Amino acid sequence: MTSPAKIVLSGIQPTGKLHFGRYFGAVQNWIELQSSYDCVFSVVDYHAMTMPYSPAQLRENVWDLAINLLACGIREENLFIQSLVPEHTELAWILACNCSYGELSRMTQFKDKTQQLRDKDKDLFVSAGLFIYPVLQAADILIYRADCVPVGKDQEQHLELTRNIAERFNHIYRTDYFTLPEPLFTEVPKVMSTADPLRKMSASAGEKHYVDVFAAPDQIRKQVRSAVTDTGQESGNQMSPGVENLFMLLRAAHSPDTDELLEAYKGGTLAYSKLKEQVAEALVSIALPFQEEKRRLLEDKKAIKDRIKRSSAHIRERAARTLSEVKAIVGLGQPLSR
Ligand code: TRP
Repeated sequence: MTSPAKIVLSGIQPTGKLHFGRYFGAVQNWIELQSSYDCVFSVVDYHAMTMPYSPAQLRENVWDLAINLLACGIREENLFIQSLVPEHTELAWILACNCSYGELSRMTQFKDKTQQLRDKDKDLFVSAGLFIYPVLQAADILIYRADCVPVGKDQEQHLELTRNIAERFNHIYRTDYFTLPEPLFTEVPKVMSTADPLRKMSASAGEKHYVDVFAAPDQIRKQVRSAVTDTGQESGNQMSPGVENLFMLLRAAHSPDTDELLEAYKGGTLAYSKLKEQVAEALVSIALPFQEEKRRLLEDKKAIKDRIKRSSAHIRERAARTLSEVKAIVGLGQPLSR
């Protein structure tokens, strides 16, 4: 008998566009993991409420991202929308009672985001939701009793906290109920911003900073053409961060011209316009089939939304089972038999 496939869980925030930083840095890897793991991927809308946001925009982003993920190759049965599985928040409460204030205060992402809010407007408030966000993330993972979580460096600390919470829970309640999830480190490219190659590509920094996978091909070309190359501060023959980023994109896109262009660069004969043109074409050729698939999915928008709701409902059954078992362990709820 073969053992069941290991369970992988990951989540993506429905903030902004699906850009190539997120595609190469996470989604592409998720698509590959589907062939060897039992994968559960979530559009984490509860998480998106921890920073200031607009309700209408959130709803639109959630559906758009879910459909984009399907168009890129995430399988429908592996995808769900977090708020359609409200058991996550209930488990988060139970876990929060097994997590200390001190642990949460040490989370660097909390400190960074608090700072971001302060920088934007010192009167903006820092919500308790932002503070306990890592507990919700722990619930996302533990509710499927995931074995592995593909994580980037920025989420490593949250996964460590998840393991600590699971371990403490098992200890306090004298059980081995929760699996301690392992990080799944995969070599993924860290794509930098096109406008500021010293920072990570992100949608929140503004339009010049990212290349949207679902933008019109000409827009993708234009965006790549406008990428910052030399900043004028490079020394000697060191490759500038902007040029390095363009090569990174070429390599990530598996462009067959990468080595040739690199040789030309080293020989001092590479025009940046040529490099950019190659990068743009490599990205467009990745984007086109996804865009085609998205158009096809959107021919019947109601049908595709219904299918995502159905897969979320199906995944919810798994989450509900864990939650009821956890409630029995911690002394909540009435046993049905009495
Ligand atoms: N916190 C993650 C991020 O900001 C998103 C996320 C939510 C997540 N729940 C998760 C990632 C569970 C991995 C596992 O990118």
